[in-house]
Amino acid sequence: MISRRITPLAGILVGSSLLLVQPALASPPALSPSAVSPPVSQVEKKPVAEGSGGAVSTVDLDASKAALGVLREGGNAMDAAVAAAATLGVTEPYSAGLAGGGFIVYYDARRKKVHTIDGREAAPKAMGPASLEGIPFDDAVTSGLSAGVPGSVAQWELALRRFGTLSLRQALKPAIDVATKGFKVDQTFYDQTAANAARFKDFTSTAKLYLPGGAPPPVGSTFRNPELADTYRRLGRLGGEWLYGGALGAEVVATVKKPPVTPGSTRNVRPGLMELSDLKAYRALERPPTKVTYKGMDVYGMAPPSSGGSTVGEALNILEALPEVGEHEYLEASRLAFADRGKYVGDIPGVPLKELLSDGFAKERACLIGERAMPHPAAPGDPDGMYGPCQTAPSAEAGEVAEEGPETTHLVVVDRWGNVVAYNITIESTGGNGIVVPGRGFLLNNELTDFTFGPAPGDPNLPAPGKRPRSSMAPTIVLNDDRPLLALGSPGGSTIITTVLQILVNRWDFGMSLPEALAAPRATQRNTAQTQAEQAFIDRYGAELTRQGHSLVLNPEIGAATAVEFLRHGRLQAVAEPTRRGGGSALVVNERG
Ligand code: DON
Repeated sequence: MISRRITPLAGILVGSSLLLVQPALASPPALSPSAVSPPVSQVEKKPVAEGSGGAVSTVDLDASKAALGVLREGGNAMDAAVAAAATLGVTEPYSAGLAGGGFIVYYDARRKKVHTIDGREAAPKAMGPASLEGIPFDDAVTSGLSAGVPGSVAQWELALRRFGTLSLRQALKPAIDVATKGFKVDQTFYDQTAANAARFKDFTSTAKLYLPGGAPPPVGSTFRNPELADTYRRLGRLGGEWLYGGALGAEVVATVKKPPVTPGSTRNVRPGLMELSDLKAYRALERPPTKVTYKGMDVYGMAPPSSGGSTVGEALNILEALPEVGEHEYLEASRLAFADRGKYVGDIPGVPLKELLSDGFAKERACLIGERAMPHPAAPGDPDGMYGPCQTAPSAEAGEVAEEGPETTHLVVVDRWGNVVAYNITIESTGGNGIVVPGRGFLLNNELTDFTFGPAPGDPNLPAPGKRPRSSMAPTIVLNDDRPLLALGSPGGSTIITTVLQILVNRWDFGMSLPEALAAPRATQRNTAQTQAEQAFIDRYGAELTRQGHSLVLNPEIGAATAVEFLRHGRLQAVAEPTRRGGGSALVVNERG
């Protein structure tokens, strides 16, 4: 048994002594457009910031500054989150963008209520269960066929209308400024461009934007995207209708159906099935959050079509049913939760969410965890509401999960009123489908590669008309007595789930501070034969876990998390990665407050 055991919560605020800023108002008055200019002068990003009056954590300094500027000018957390997401579309264009999708988990301080907004991309009406069958995954990645109907713009509009105070036009202003004035190319941007160069050069529009002069822009140079600035400006003026059925939508459809392949390219670029009517039909949706209680705290997450909330929640319930928690138990609980995710979760009616998140089911699953790693693959359980003694029969039903990269992005914003946003935004692969809409400055997503390609009868994640592919995104907000304690999330495909889970376990079971919990070496067990782990994790825990029957294999870097914790006396601690993916940017409104 690994030596980590349940330790008393070190410094976490779970008692009634928790002191938070009580919001007098949960929303500020509406701002004038000119009021929204970020006056934040910080030049270096840093991973931890502590203070009061609001906090931001993103992977990128420009995006964090955009959000902080909005907060300082009186905007609320949702205003700032949309501003940051749009700015990430400029500075992290290979992870986020207006033609992508995402999930927002939101804590409304005035009503003490958690909401979620599903802005996941959708399959076109013409897509059916066999549409991806037989297509090599790599071909699908760079194709029109993998482009889902974009969700981000509808999500931004709904989020601002329901919970913000700014118009879309106002919220886009910081991003327009960054796109116009430019940002400094860092090593991460350079590396991501270089890794994509072979396919970017196969599209005239993408090569023109991201390979100026035929090569990635050098580190230290200033990168401007005037076409995206113009697109955002028009979007602000014309609203989402411009995309969802209007002229911009027609350009997206034309690009998807006839990608602008560079003459002479030998790439087999499959056209897509999207029509303007699919864009017209798209809606961002409010959905009830998932909720589990862990050690007295309420953990809220994203329900299907994401598997984030249900899988993090089930694993936490399993851990709570165990007498002790160490790295072995963390891996085994995650293995079991992934077995159930594979069988039961997708964008389908009748996902047994209540049972998957029930204590009875968790107990039945937990009793499969012994001193040694269980045989691979773990079989899915039976969340039928009747729970008894251990069901031990392993089966070969569970399949391998796909390899995952560190793409996508997550941000957290807290405002002075105590509203909290945890927001995952993505275009799926780094660089999405690799295709820039000509003259518009943004890449299309390839989110439909998240569907099961099939044939896989009974799989809950096969494509269907209008269906949203199953996601692993897991924006998470933790409350104690209806008040926020912690908000967090990460990129990384299905490793998002394990990264969020591991940070929670590090914080609550292993007594780490939040910065330690993010920086700690990671491992990810997703019902795979081998457990992927960072080198430092292997060095620290490998020998003992191997003795217990685990097989560890190197994954150099897992996730790129962002988080904010509510400390005593209204203080906030914003935390980003110290080193992964080049390190993130944490900021607070009043550093001395
Ligand atoms: O929704 C999801 O889970 C993924 N499309 C997110 C993409 C990501 O994190 C990068 N992974 N490959």
